[in-house]
Amino acid sequence: MGKSTKPIVVSGIRSTGHLHLGNYLGALRNFVAMQETYQCYFFIADLHSLTTHPTPDHLQDSVRDILAEYLAAGLDIEQCALYVQSDIQETIELYLYLNMNAYLGELERCTSFKEKVRQNPNNVNAGLLTYPTLMAADILIHRADLVPVGKDQEQHLEMARTFAERFNRLYQTDLFTSPQAYQSDKPLVKIPGLDGNGKMGKSEGNAIYLADTPDQIRKKVMKAVSDIGPSTIGQPKSEPVQNLFTIMEQVSSHDTLAHFEDLYNRCEIRYGDMKKQLAEDLVTFLAPLREKIEMYRNDERYLRDVARIGAEKAHVSATETLKRVREIVGIRSLF
Ligand code: TYM
Repeated sequence: MGKSTKPIVVSGIRSTGHLHLGNYLGALRNFVAMQETYQCYFFIADLHSLTTHPTPDHLQDSVRDILAEYLAAGLDIEQCALYVQSDIQETIELYLYLNMNAYLGELERCTSFKEKVRQNPNNVNAGLLTYPTLMAADILIHRADLVPVGKDQEQHLEMARTFAERFNRLYQTDLFTSPQAYQSDKPLVKIPGLDGNGKMGKSEGNAIYLADTPDQIRKKVMKAVSDIGPSTIGQPKSEPVQNLFTIMEQVSSHDTLAHFEDLYNRCEIRYGDMKKQLAEDLVTFLAPLREKIEMYRNDERYLRDVARIGAEKAHVSATETLKRVREIVGIRSLF
């Protein structure tokens, strides 16, 4: 079987807890939009989450949570292959081959690696160092053309291209295409956290989760960091305040955003009012998702079927790619 005529799309999310608004707006929403037009492979990156040593129970729960959240967001198993990364063992073998031509210097220079080393100097393991090669293997195992991700994954994607091109060059093949970040009509987004700086993240403790109850959302938003307010007309916004506006831009109406922009510019803004409005808009935005998440999460049998069907689909292209990689590299059994 040759490559599909539709462009191939691959993306995944780590199973390190519930999905948050950043995952949804940065990635998942695009997954849903792409599934009709492209040949899509979406997975739960359970192997990637092992770098931080979750307990087996927590890991299992997380995989089920995210599967339910994928389905709730609108991924359709008729239209895409929806699977768990570790069910496709071909990826792990490709990871090994790619590691042979991934160099220490380039892996150490990766921004996310440096950041993790800084955050957690006592857990600098080899899995963390080679995180980008495993991600490249996920992408290349299906010979993807497009990868929908948030802005924070741009460098990893660039490394996947480097590994693909290097493999092609070394073995004088055109097996791998160069996977590109998917650009919808909107630019890649980085959703900030509620703590005043940086991005919304699972480990940062600053996230709104898709499964949060309305009360949890309200409490989190009301506690979000802001500042003492502008004192001169047209004063530039501080980072925490800009963050509130950035989230509002995603979930509130154009009029609401314009209203608070105007109040800010006239130095008449009351952040309490803005947060109340933002909390209600978030509740409304997330309500349909939360109901569906609960429904899917309570149906373990269905989740099992979904994972099995997805693995079967993903196996077809993974087996074919790996077979060709083995031939190219010269790994052939003697019997
Ligand atoms: P992960 O699990 O950190 O995040 C999953 C997706 O969510 C996006 N994202 C955000 N987008 C906007 N604003 C934010 N605050 C925000 N936080 C997260 C990420 O950009 C990502 O698209 N390495 C990947 C998982 C992965 C993968 C792959 C992705 C493994 N193999 C192959 C694509 C292709 C990761 O850690 O994502």
